[in-house]
Amino acid sequence: MTNNTEHQVTFRAQPAGPIVGDIRVPGDKSMSHRSIMLGALAEGITEVNGFLEGEDSLATVQAFRDLGVTIEGPDNGFVRIHGVGMNGLQAPRGPIYLGNSGTGMRLFSGLLAAQAFDSELVGDASLTKRPMGRVADPLRAMGAVIDTAEGGRPPLKIRGSQPLTGIHYDMPVASAQVKSCLLLAGLYADGVTSVTEPAPTRDHTERMLEGFGYHVYRADATSSVSGGGKLVACNIDVPADISSAAFFLVAGSIAPGSDLTLRHVGMNPTRVGVINILRLMGANIDVSNERAIGGEPVADVRVRYAPLKGIDIPEREVPLAIDEFPVLFIAATFAEGRTTLRGAEELRVKESDRIQVMADGLAAVGVKTTVTPDGIIIDGGQAMTGGIVNSHGDHRIAMSFAVASLRAKGEIVINDCANVATSFPGFVELAQQVGMNIQSQGEV
Ligand code: S3P
Repeated sequence: MTNNTEHQVTFRAQPAGPIVGDIRVPGDKSMSHRSIMLGALAEGITEVNGFLEGEDSLATVQAFRDLGVTIEGPDNGFVRIHGVGMNGLQAPRGPIYLGNSGTGMRLFSGLLAAQAFDSELVGDASLTKRPMGRVADPLRAMGAVIDTAEGGRPPLKIRGSQPLTGIHYDMPVASAQVKSCLLLAGLYADGVTSVTEPAPTRDHTERMLEGFGYHVYRADATSSVSGGGKLVACNIDVPADISSAAFFLVAGSIAPGSDLTLRHVGMNPTRVGVINILRLMGANIDVSNERAIGGEPVADVRVRYAPLKGIDIPEREVPLAIDEFPVLFIAATFAEGRTTLRGAEELRVKESDRIQVMADGLAAVGVKTTVTPDGIIIDGGQAMTGGIVNSHGDHRIAMSFAVASLRAKGEIVINDCANVATSFPGFVELAQQVGMNIQSQGEV
């Protein structure tokens, strides 16, 4: 498995535009992880199309191979998983490496807490700093035995053969990863496991469990499963990742003359915050050809240049756009007037502290912002100069500044970009194809 701290990738991005074309971005990361997890635990063969061949979801594939599951591919987005059934996983020979992936670690902790063998979950330098107490604590309440490093950080050492009992859990933070972790543990628990969320979060786990024939009871903000059932293999079509499409939605919105169509984009209502927010800012985004594929809504999305205006971002949109804020800050920078974000403290515990790292990056290209504990205030219309930005190994920060360069006054050099490969392999080529002027130096 690649360790991105070992090689350096730098992006050099020049002003450019318009953004024009008709493209499909890679597969949804959240759904790609889940397709492998549920396929591995199902009875029968699951075939996946549109799988994201990024390092995060590939780490999940490797993890299941380490747990004794036969997986063919990925080959051009196609994966065939030979499911082993709920109790068919085998003890891994060593620690399971999940790279940069918080989703991987949090979801694995739930399903490994219930296995008959011990396991250890490890990750890269960024993942090793991220909070895992949010999953370890409720799992312990179910009967799991889990050790973490200081402060609830990885590695996670999970003791096998612990009987789990269903609990009701009121999540203190709106986290799809915590919810999914507990539902996966709940598949193995005695009785009912139910999770209530303080605000709607992505529901791919619930939808995909239904697709595999496992009923999830859903009422208002609560999702519940009864333990002891089984998963039945099915075929999965993973749509394009709206979180990857987001970079091009902002690129097309800020570069004059742009007209870009993004095909087969996942439009799950728990994921469309970026479109809602950009539209509130005045973006010209058309959604067409809406259809349902395998229990998930999908559509084509066309973006054309439009002058943006600053807004107060409604707090209800925050969990629905949680991964898109770095690039939304770029949209705010080129909007007229003030944009204010509140209620987004979760951004501080993503692959980097996305509030501070974005504010530092914007400062490095001459844009002043005001950082608050749970958000940021950006006064649009300040001239963006060229400069050198440190992405702190965060894929979404790197791609956001590549988008920003479209309207900068000079070259932006973005350091530490290797992790773009975690979620968006081929980003640089696709960005070049639609009119961005970006070069990658290094290995990606
Ligand atoms: C994800 C959930 C989100 C998101 C992450 C992927 C998932 O995290 O930021 O990139 O696949 O469940 P939280 O649920 O912790 O907010």
